[in-house]
Amino acid sequence: MQITLKSGAAEKQRAACVAVGLWADGSLSDAASALDAASGGQLVEIASAGDINGKLGQSLMLHRLPGVAAKRVLLVGLGAAEDFDRRAFRTAQAAAAAALVGARIRDAVSYLADIECRGGQLAWRVRSAAEEAFAAAYRFDAFKSSGGKSKVKRLKKLTLASTSRSRRAKAKAGLARARAVAAGRNLARDLGNTPPNVCHPSYLAKQAKALKKQFKSLKVEVLDEAGMGKLGMGSLLAVSRGSRQPAKLIAMQHRGGKKRDKPVVLVGKGVTFDTGGISIKPAATMDEMKFDMCGAASVFGVMRAVCELDLPINVVGVVPAVENMPGGDATRPGDVVTSMSGKTIEILNTDAEGRLILCDALTWAGKFKPGVVIDIATLTGACIVALGHENAAVLGNDDALIDALRSAGDSSGDTCWPLPMSDAYDKDLESNFADVANIGGRAGTITAGCFLGRFTADYRWAHLDIAGVAWKSGKVKGATGRPVPLLMQYLFDRVDAG
Ligand code: BES
Ligand code: MN
Ligand code: ZN
Repeated sequence: MQITLKSGAAEKQRAACVAVGLWADGSLSDAASALDAASGGQLVEIASAGDINGKLGQSLMLHRLPGVAAKRVLLVGLGAAEDFDRRAFRTAQAAAAAALVGARIRDAVSYLADIECRGGQLAWRVRSAAEEAFAAAYRFDAFKSSGGKSKVKRLKKLTLASTSRSRRAKAKAGLARARAVAAGRNLARDLGNTPPNVCHPSYLAKQAKALKKQFKSLKVEVLDEAGMGKLGMGSLLAVSRGSRQPAKLIAMQHRGGKKRDKPVVLVGKGVTFDTGGISIKPAATMDEMKFDMCGAASVFGVMRAVCELDLPINVVGVVPAVENMPGGDATRPGDVVTSMSGKTIEILNTDAEGRLILCDALTWAGKFKPGVVIDIATLTGACIVALGHENAAVLGNDDALIDALRSAGDSSGDTCWPLPMSDAYDKDLESNFADVANIGGRAGTITAGCFLGRFTADYRWAHLDIAGVAWKSGKVKGATGRPVPLLMQYLFDRVDAG
């Protein structure tokens, strides 16, 4: 889909549809008022008839309004004006985008990004509106025999319109960021959705090389099992033992900043399929464990967006990629392994494998002399119990970093919420036979964070547990591309702060 900007009168737009807003008290947005005037009061009449009441996220498609050039008018509920904050703005944009994509039309002009909201400047509004539209238009049919070539009309062109002509530069900057974030998010979704017989560790390594081809500035390094063995990554390799697919450790570097600027290092869990290993998972919904590489996918997405925008900062993406299978050579519960850090680990449950690959990747990440390290992982089912599917969990050893991620989450709509870390939880990981056990305690998300915390004492670090937000189940099953928007916002905030 192509998104462009323009200004002009709403009633004059020649398009399949023009989208405008209706407030909960029955009043019309500026563009809606213009349509109402052009059509001799039709919109006010329809609104007062009660077909739509302006509740946030409602929408109503109207056809052939007299005096209006567009074939259709989409009226979108905005809620109460006093409640119209950034969250409500996004909800309205998402509702409009869903209605436009569902309408099976080819083009539309939306005046909804023009509506001011509390806390949202023009660049933010254009970016958010565009990101919601790109997300709604996403489809994944690479593995359907039709190859996605259905005859259904798709929304190809969306114009974000404004009734006034001013501040075009700001809107353009917002749109450029939206395009990059959307492309990165779509890449993350594609990788997450790709079936696990295709998307294995070597496939991810190939993706990194493909990204390097596309963006010449990207530096890519891939370690194989022998290389990891030499570095002493006994923990990561223990997870991979049961699989026929060899593990890969991938690093992607974008050096857009000054040479001496310490990089942001992102480490994404890349378990391309998690059977649980010998501590095998139950059969129901096990297919969803193909999404256990969504942390890695988000790192790919961010690197893509960072390269496309050529952000003036240093960012390194690290992806430990493995498949967790119960083969004849698989790790047993009770095995003790030695991590790259030198710490020994008693593997009490082979299904707690994410932390086992991350600890070695996090130790390795130290070689990039990071300013901050953020790991992203579908780490614990307990995270869904704690926070459901709304918020990712954020933990770490640096309150300023955690606050920055929370704030980036709030402004991108891709939110996270903090969980505590302390010695009281950490001691649940004591082992009778090794330095640390790989499971412990009832607070599963926190003890997993504490486990990682034992390997990250040398730098500022935060951990995002995305188990509840990385994909959707049921009829809408599929990867969400979260937390690409959150991470990109965090990077934008750093860029904009100079
Ligand atoms: N990939 C899973 C976590 C997960 C499970 C995410 C379900 C989303 C939905 C992870 O590797 C895992 O299996 N964790 C275990 C840890 C336990 C053995 C301590 C879990 O959460 O059950
Ligand atoms: Mn597991
Ligand atoms: Zn897992």
